[in-house]
Amino acid sequence: MKVWILQGSPRANGNTAWMAEEFKKAAEAAGHEVILVNAARKKIAGCLACEYCHTKGNGACIQKDDMQELYPLMAEAEVLVLAAPIYYFTLCAQIQAPIQRMYCVNAPAKVKKMALLASSYSPDVYDGAKAEFRDICNYWNVESIGVVTANINEQKTEETKQKIHNIVEKL
Ligand SMILES: Cc1cc2nc3c(=O)[nH]c(=O)nc-3n(C[C@H](O)[C@H](O)[C@H](O)COP(=O)(O)O)c2cc1C
Repeated sequence: MKVWILQGSPRANGNTAWMAEEFKKAAEAAGHEVILVNAARKKIAGCLACEYCHTKGNGACIQKDDMQELYPLMAEAEVLVLAAPIYYFTLCAQIQAPIQRMYCVNAPAKVKKMALLASSYSPDVYDGAKAEFRDICNYWNVESIGVVTANINEQKTEETKQKIHNIVEKL
């Protein structure tokens, strides 16, 4: 399957990047085609709610920022993996922005499965991110193949790696 991992942490060697890489390695080993994008290195503004896309734009966003590179990837992806650090009890802004910029096409055309990889300092801070992830899966009518979280005590561990591998098996 064509797997697109959208990684939102600005820390290149951080925990979220590690989770995303582990997913990529395991999925590639299983024969899937994987593209990993670091959204934190992109300039992606928030949606302007101008409705250009739903009127004159005919599905195209009026903002010509780095999201233009991501729309073609999103259009081809069959699996979307969101990898995000928790910032203030929810998905980081670097992941929120590209999701909300999907407004112009409403839903990714070919995505059938989604997974969430999230990291935080504290335990028990994932309710907001999990609820958003669940609701987006429902809204886009895609199957959730799982959520892996890693707080400070669970980061870069064999146990977390195994949880990621368990999700990859559902691709
Ligand atoms: C702006 C900001 C907000 C954060 N908010 C939370 C939070 O609400 N709860 C929490 O447990 N950790 C919070 N953290 C800590 C990160 O979620 C945690 O360090 C995470 O593992 C970072 O992932 P990374 O290593 O991929 O960058 C925050 C960090 C930053 C920079």
